Amino acid sequence: MSKRLQNQTAIITGSSSGIGQAIAVELAREGANIVINYNRDREGAKETAKLIKELNNTESLIVQCNVANEKSVEKMFARTIKKFGTVDILVANSGIQQDAAFHEMTLKQWQAVIDVNLTGQFLCARAAIREFLRRGMRKDVSKALGKIICMSSVHDAIPWAGHVNYAASKGGVDMFMKSLAQEYGKDKIRVNSIAPGAIRTPINGEAWQTKRALRKLLKLIPYDRIGEPEDIGRTAVWLCSDESDYITGTSIYVDGAMTNYPGFIDNG
Ligand code: BGC
Repeated sequence: MSKRLQNQTAIITGSSSGIGQAIAVELAREGANIVINYNRDREGAKETAKLIKELNNTESLIVQCNVANEKSVEKMFARTIKKFGTVDILVANSGIQQDAAFHEMTLKQWQAVIDVNLTGQFLCARAAIREFLRRGMRKDVSKALGKIICMSSVHDAIPWAGHVNYAASKGGVDMFMKSLAQEYGKDKIRVNSIAPGAIRTPINGEAWQTKRALRKLLKLIPYDRIGEPEDIGRTAVWLCSDESDYITGTSIYVDGAMTNYPGFIDNG
């Protein structure tokens, strides 16, 4: 059976752990060449490469890059194009949290989150779109000129006390993604976001690592289980494939109905 992303190349930022790692593996399973990006976690990136190698399906390339740095992003794209010829898919996944009560939040904490979560998406998406436009259509691999997935969060819709920098960055990602989809629709570039709820990854360990914390977390999830990174990985495959060719400018919530006001289940 032919694989859904055969002969395509995908850059997945922040794919040394968590959601990014799962997306890299699932895209590789569907035949895409994978650029594994990390900033500090080289060991994690090597683990992702090992998981991809075990699939015996496709090739991967590890590239260190700080997505908030313009030169670093340009270099990552240049290395990718040198090795694989072009880029077909960008998953702008890198994201961080630096939580603090708002009145105690430092400018450094604010800036760090905006730099990675928002400016990082700007720099990577701009480089990807430039490459899509330069390269032109490849009708044999995809109906679209290129596909971008912006990693958002349920917190592009749910306000989050104590995490104002993070929520503001994800609210920004939503309008960023929609405006790009509007601007480049005529060029057949699809831009969407995935908005995960609580997924079992290192970023939110405190929310699921003890039984007590997990019980509290599950009150926010009508579907009554925490999400797994593969839930997002499989969604990303579909959103990059031609099966979703008419979907652009939208956000897909993969959250077990966390965005559906669970506080109303026995209230109101
Ligand atoms: C955050 C996690 C949080 C989840 C649900 C995500 O975007 O990074 O820390 O558990 O949203 O609140």
